[in-house]
Amino acid sequence: MKQIALQDYSVSIGNMWAGLQNVVDFNSVSKYFVLVDAMTREYCLPEFLALSRLEPDAIIEIQAGEHFKTIDTCQHVWNELFHHQADRNSLLINLGGGVVGDLGGFVASTYKRGIKFIQVPTTLLSQLDASIGGKVGIDFLGLKNALGVFKNPSAVFIYPGFYKTLSDRQLKSGYAEALKHALIADKPMWEEIKINGDIRSTDWISFLEKSLLIKKRIVEIDPLEKGPRKALNFGHTIGHAIESIALDTDATLLHGEAVLLGMIAESYIAFTKGLLKEEELADITTSLSTFVDFEFDIENRDLIYNLVKGDKKNEGNKILCTLLNSIGQYAINQEISLEEINAGLNYLEEQFDLKNV
Ligand SMILES: NC(=O)c1ccc[n+]([C@@H]2O[C@H](COP(=O)([O-])OP(=O)(O)OC[C@H]3O[C@@H](n4cnc5c(N)ncnc54)[C@H](O)[C@@H]3O)[C@@H](O)[C@H]2O)c1
Ligand SMILES: [Zn+2]
Repeated sequence: MKQIALQDYSVSIGNMWAGLQNVVDFNSVSKYFVLVDAMTREYCLPEFLALSRLEPDAIIEIQAGEHFKTIDTCQHVWNELFHHQADRNSLLINLGGGVVGDLGGFVASTYKRGIKFIQVPTTLLSQLDASIGGKVGIDFLGLKNALGVFKNPSAVFIYPGFYKTLSDRQLKSGYAEALKHALIADKPMWEEIKINGDIRSTDWISFLEKSLLIKKRIVEIDPLEKGPRKALNFGHTIGHAIESIALDTDATLLHGEAVLLGMIAESYIAFTKGLLKEEELADITTSLSTFVDFEFDIENRDLIYNLVKGDKKNEGNKILCTLLNSIGQYAINQEISLEEINAGLNYLEEQFDLKNV
């Protein structure tokens, strides 16, 4: 087992079940509840209960998927907590992907002015990204993560055994965020993970540890996202726009898939601005392209521009983006123009037109 200590909680990776029992036993917890969604109830809860030997006071279930990361779902969970007479010393264990973790963390932070919660993330994406950094929240009025707070969990427990039931697509989507962590902050890690013909044979403990250490370093120097934490948005300015337009089509993209595309386009922009060298751009493009085995559509440029202009990282009329200075080094608050975005998207299109001939 590996352990990463953050300022006020720790992340345990691997065979962490005894640690989980300790946190429940030694926290003067009055009652504890496990929050699952319909899928994690089926695929993760039985193993979780068998290995942790915990006997929660109740299991609270929500529907699965981003579509249910809403205030209505929160009401259901708050209701259940009241119904089971949860008090201020109760604990909520969030067993699921980023949706369960973000929503469960938000519900716990607001129930009776806040009860403790533990994150037991079950997707690769939620394990190496959503589980640390203290952001919890829900979507509102169609806007992602529009309501939320910064609140750290009491502990995070990461078990790679949960990937057994995760699709290859989901696994790759999580892997994309680790590629991002390596590109912004760790060149040796990039060299190690940039090619991976068989993701399932990855040495997960060491992989997760490296990736989480990068995120930890960044969130600890900037917990409230005033500056350096924007580094984590590399690939996301264009990626989010591509993800949003895909939502309205039959070919929806997973978050990490859109981020892969965003990272390629934004690397091209960094190259045209004289930040990345040509051989670095070629390295990034070739490596990231091997993970792009899905269809995507970036034809509607006006829609993409509108979405990018609405990005919450912008200031005034300026479109601000995190770019790479070189592999392993980022530059935040880089102003980019619509022409540059267009050129980045053209570059992206060229890569895959060429590949598909
Ligand atoms: N708080 C943060 O800092 C942060 C960072 C990144 C992403 N997020 C959030 O995380 C969410 C995306 O996370 P996600 O990709 O984990 O989404 P998710 O929670 O919707 O999980 C994806 C799907 O996989 C299912 N699932 C989960 N674990 C499984 C398993 N082991 N086996 C089989 N199926 C399983 C879920 O039920 C769901 O249907 C978004 O809402 C995003 O905003 C938050
Ligand atoms: Zn992301």
